[in-house]
Amino acid sequence: MLADLKRDFENEGGIVAPLKILFLASEVDPLAKTGGLADVAGALPIALHELGCDIRIATPFYRHIKEGNFDIELFMKGITVQVGRLRLTDDVYCTYLNKKVPVYLFNKEEFYDRNQLYGTHNGDYFDNVERFVYLSKGALEFCLKSEFIPDIIHCNDWHAALVPVYLKTLYKEEPLFKRTASVLTIHNLAYQGIYPPDEYSVTGLPNELYTPEGIEFWGNINFLKGGILFADAITTVSKRYSHEIQSPEFGFGLDDILRNRRADLYGILNGVKYSVWDPSVDPFIAKKYDVSHLSGKKACKKDLVNALHMDPSYMNKPILAVISRLTEQKGCDLLGEIVNELMRMDVGFVLLGEGERKYNKMFGAVRREHIGKAGIIIGYNNQLAHKIMAGADIFLMPSRYEPCGLTQMYALRYGAVPIVRDTGGLSDTIQEFVPETGKGTGFKFLDYSASSFMEEIKNALQLFENKNMWTRIVKNGMKADFSWKRSAQKYLEVYKKASATTSLA
Ligand code: ADP
Ligand code: GLC
Repeated sequence: MLADLKRDFENEGGIVAPLKILFLASEVDPLAKTGGLADVAGALPIALHELGCDIRIATPFYRHIKEGNFDIELFMKGITVQVGRLRLTDDVYCTYLNKKVPVYLFNKEEFYDRNQLYGTHNGDYFDNVERFVYLSKGALEFCLKSEFIPDIIHCNDWHAALVPVYLKTLYKEEPLFKRTASVLTIHNLAYQGIYPPDEYSVTGLPNELYTPEGIEFWGNINFLKGGILFADAITTVSKRYSHEIQSPEFGFGLDDILRNRRADLYGILNGVKYSVWDPSVDPFIAKKYDVSHLSGKKACKKDLVNALHMDPSYMNKPILAVISRLTEQKGCDLLGEIVNELMRMDVGFVLLGEGERKYNKMFGAVRREHIGKAGIIIGYNNQLAHKIMAGADIFLMPSRYEPCGLTQMYALRYGAVPIVRDTGGLSDTIQEFVPETGKGTGFKFLDYSASSFMEEIKNALQLFENKNMWTRIVKNGMKADFSWKRSAQKYLEVYKKASATTSLA
């Protein structure tokens, strides 16, 4: 596979050059993170590097990164970027993932030196168009100035979705980009980057593009729509979701244009960075364990019960856990519907999350009412997320929709048996357990209703009583392998197809 790619990119001297990729993402773990996009951006490039690619990442130089404990050096002085009527100049810094994948950090204090990545509880930052136009155009200007001319620019989500549009309009005549193809990955179709028309001039794009066939969308600008129309290939993060988004139910108004581009649309499942999410190496948990030495999980459960000030009796009862952004997508309304019944059952309940105000309040109230039984933390805490994975018996993920979902795959590796809604990446990663055969890794329900969800919880709790069966399902899950290597190989295939379109042009 890579050999083919290398042949395609042989340079004039006959020396085989590695495939050059610029990977644009608005968050990269461990530098800055609000959700799974950061996990992907912090892992997939490393897997691609290990397959022989020359891959480099571009992301904003946020305040968190400046204040974090990272080795950062000045890489390039003064790139100039036209944002609307302003010509803005600033520097690019550099750090490395795993000491090998360069991450270019685009400095612009007035845009990125803020407390949050995208906005506050009151909504998006007022200048997100400027902030992400700066990153997108800045990345292209940076390539030209640094002479790192990528074969592929891999753009993630709406924040980078104008890059494919720029390549085919403003930078169309740029000879250095003649063989540069773009790939857009959609991590979540619900977030499209929709802004009022008076911001259009900030993008610098020609007026002819502001039409219903172009990036206009019901009277607004739509970044993601632009990316879908112009990218050479489009991917999303599971096969099932790649089909779902072509239907009105999951298409968020873009299903027709996704159907039009279905020949170039691929579903590639995310992977797990097992160097970070595996109980046999995890530095955050009380005792390490693996599939052949499960006893450490008990110590981790005890540690969790203590950390969350739960009654010690829960050491001997099933603990059900949630780690999630608290949004409608994640099925928080279903959780809200069942939580009172759950509190009447003989189980412990743990939740770590933050998000929409109404859910923060709702679970905050449950915590106050059920001290000792409900270990609920409203907030973001990576170390605690690891401890919960290790200490929980059951992991709940009743998402309304789920492009891929990483936490259910993490839960598998930690022996926390997932109960998930049968949608998107949850469908593709969890196999229903069949007691007769002893095969399967979790429990799934299809109907988006509290009763179906509760029914699966009861099925799981019944199985929990049968220690042999339970150990079986736990072990099946722990053995599942979602390494990034396989997914990275699939991205290479997509890169190849995307490149073929530019060499034909
Ligand atoms: P999404 O990206 O839709 O939020 P994923 O399952 O793909 O969902 O990824 C979520 C990531 O964010 C996981 O790494 C998970 O551990 C982490 N996460 C979510 N909420 C929290 C939280 N409150 N504290 C710590 N980590 C969290
Ligand atoms: C999004 C999706 C989630 C996915 C993650 C990484 O945040 O909601 O399902 O796992 O992106 O691709």
